[in-house]
Formats: sequence, structure tokens, C-alpha cells
Amino acid sequence: MKVWKKATDDFSKKNIDITRIPKHLAIIMDGNGRWAQKKGLPRAIGHRAGVEALREIVRGSNDLGIKYLTIYAFSTENWKRPQTEVGILMSLLNEYIRKELAELHANNVKICILGHREDMPADLREACATASKKTSDNTGLVLNVALNYGGRSEILKAVKEIALEVKNGILDADQITEEVFESHLFTKGCPEPELVVRTSGEMRLSNFLLWQAAYSEIVIVDECWPDFNRESLLKTISNYQKRDRRFGGISEC
Ligand code: IPE
Ligand code: IPE
Ligand code: MG
Repeated sequence: MKVWKKATDDFSKKNIDITRIPKHLAIIMDGNGRWAQKKGLPRAIGHRAGVEALREIVRGSNDLGIKYLTIYAFSTENWKRPQTEVGILMSLLNEYIRKELAELHANNVKICILGHREDMPADLREACATASKKTSDNTGLVLNVALNYGGRSEILKAVKEIALEVKNGILDADQITEEVFESHLFTKGCPEPELVVRTSGEMRLSNFLLWQAAYSEIVIVDECWPDFNRESLLKTISNYQKRDRRFGGISEC
């Protein structure tokens, strides 16, 4: 099994401060369809190329020492797409998880699935369950795959669970804190993403990490997802490192 070697990139030349790498990077992998269409190819080819980009970025993130990588793979709204495209996306995700599992496991990656599993096709549900179970004790990069994920439905899920606890007398309404709320989200236990990246130039969250991204820095890159590579990742992090994060306070300088 291939064990990833640390990249030999000289990060300082790329204006990266290795001591200030985001702990949690979240990516809206957008633009597969347009990437293909621009080349006169079917959208499915774009999705396949998107999987290749994902492979590279997972390795690159690991090299950089990112601890949590959350990727938006399929939204609760993506079911609106033509059935054939939904089918292609489901089978590509299934293929990715099954094919990459051994290598990810060998490299100590912990795979977590964020999203509603009940509506997924049975084979994908099974692949997700196997991957999460097999890698559950791994201590390296945490790869959160947001699959059939939507920020609003995640928040509703948390509200319903908490309401039930209050109703059953397990919790008092006064005890509902941000920490309690977060413990009911799919991202339970993960720090908030410092950086959310969206490819293909679109400037919206599209229902991604609505609670968690409250104070995330957002970087929009023009490249479509299949063109996003290690170099793009380094540039994005360099951009993030120039931001002044104030969290409602005032800047130190
Ligand atoms: C991202 O690419 C993949 C998913 C949303 C599943 P798109 O399929 O959204 O590509 P565009 O935005 O139509 O180009
Ligand atoms: C967001 O992209 C969802 C994923 C990347 C999985 P979309 O392409 O679905 O978003 P909209 O429709 O442009 O907002
Ligand atoms: Mg899109």
C-alpha cells in the first residue's frame, strides 16, 4: 500500500507560514460541470476529473499538516438534478470511497461522513459505513465527507434532538449552550473551519456549514474544481494567512 511521503515543496517560497496552517479547511468543490462543458465534454467527465482533484488535495492537505478537511460532495439540494447525473455522482462517490479506503487507512486518515445516510443508495451507505468503521481509530487527517449534507437540515436535526431531551427531562432549556448545540451537529468534535474555499468563482455557501462557518474566512477561487491542484491550495492558504481575523473585536495593529 502506498504510504504518502511528505511533500518536498519549499513552503516558504510560496509565502506559506507553516506555523499558521488552518487546522480545519472546508471546501465547496464546485464547477465540475462547467469545466467539462467548456471542453465540449459531458458533465460526467467533469465529475470524474473532480475525483482526481480530490485525491490530490487530500494528499496535499495531509502534507501541509491540516488536521480536518471537510469536502462538500453532495448537497441535500443536489437531488434536484437529473436522475442520470445523481446516479453518476452516487456511483463515483461509492467508487472513490471503496478504491481509496485502503490507501487512506494506511496513511492514518479517519473518514467521517457528514449527512443523512438514510436516503443514500444501499451500496453507498454500505461503503460509508465500512470506511467510517475501518478508520475510526486512526489519528491522522480527519476527512469529513459531506454527503447528502445541508446546513439547514443539520440545524433542524440538532433542534429536534435537543427538544426531545428537554421534553424527556434529560436537559433543562437553560442548559442549552452553543457547546450543547454543537454536540448535536454532524461535525461534533471538530473545531470550526478557519477557512472555507469555493472553486469556480461562485460567491455563496449553498447550504454548507451554516453554523460552523460563522467566522470562517472565505476564499473564492476562479478555477473550476478539476483544475484545483496543490499549487492552488498553497495560494489559497497564502491568501488566508493575509487576512485580519477580528471575530468582532478590533485589530491588534
Ligand atoms: C460540483 O460541480 C459537484 C457537485 C455539486 C456535486 P457542479 O456539478 O456543481 O458543476 P457546475 O457548478 O454545474 O459547473
Ligand atoms: C454546492 O454546489 C454543492 C456541492 C459542491 C456539493 P452546487 O453547484 O450544488 O451549488 P449551487 O446550486 O450553484 O448553489
Ligand atoms: Mg455547481
